[in-house]
Amino acid sequence: MKINVIGGGAIGLLAAAKLGRFHDVRLLTRTREQSDEITVKGLHLGDEVITVEALPAADWQDLGQSDVWIVCVKQYDLQAIWEKLKLHANAAVVFLQNGMNHTDFLQVEDFDYPIIVGSVEHGALRINSHTVEHTGEAAIRLADLSDHYAEVLVNQLNKPDFPILFEQNWHMMLGTKLIANAVINPLTAIYRVKNGELLEHPAFERIAKVLCKEAADALGLEGVQQWANVRRIINATKANLSSMHRDIQAGRQTEIESISGYVRDHAKQAVPYTDFVYYSILGLTKQQERTYL
Ligand code: PAF
Repeated sequence: MKINVIGGGAIGLLAAAKLGRFHDVRLLTRTREQSDEITVKGLHLGDEVITVEALPAADWQDLGQSDVWIVCVKQYDLQAIWEKLKLHANAAVVFLQNGMNHTDFLQVEDFDYPIIVGSVEHGALRINSHTVEHTGEAAIRLADLSDHYAEVLVNQLNKPDFPILFEQNWHMMLGTKLIANAVINPLTAIYRVKNGELLEHPAFERIAKVLCKEAADALGLEGVQQWANVRRIINATKANLSSMHRDIQAGRQTEIESISGYVRDHAKQAVPYTDFVYYSILGLTKQQERTYL
């Protein structure tokens, strides 16, 4: 297949490298420096070097026909990219973002091509602009947001060492991931602890459980089942620093708007614990920005 992957972050590099072994992959990066580096050095994943075509965003208009677009940029960069991509997309578009804000704006328009949303369960770490480490082997799950194409695509892309699985219900799939992120990410970033510590202290666990209930209620998903899933993910990733914890440490923008912000926007009743973590992360980010200036 001819696949265009947009985004040279950890997930974009991982997807391009894994899919590039079997398909004709083009990787679209924000900077020309990154695409030049990938063109010269290849894409490094463990001991493997995979050759993919890399282009800077500025050259998008010349891409010609492709079979699928996979958008791997962070939620806060998505809207600007999407304004441009929707004019050029000529095939199914797959969105692999944390959070759910994109589902709101994607549902208000009609498109001539299928829109698919995905949930990434892999751990990936970008080492440098052309090297990615696969830190947690898991799966990518895909579901249709509009049209019926996800299952066909899954059958073409799924491989035993890079599972891509079909899900019937996009809201349940993304909602379940969002609830885990709404609990684990802000709490680990505020407390500066590894994921596993949230279940090691009864006080942390108590707060985590209430956050989970607020998020589950806001999304209309069953709370007990969601708490069991959050506990499972905390245990499975207990030695990890969450992505938000790492973002705060590095002074980067966080995904709080598309995670806790989404919960606040969709809640039908007060969500005081979610408000607290939401404003705490905003405040911490500003503090860090000031320190870095
Ligand atoms: O964002 C993250 O860090 C991950 O999605 C998760 C599941 C919370 C594990 O760290």
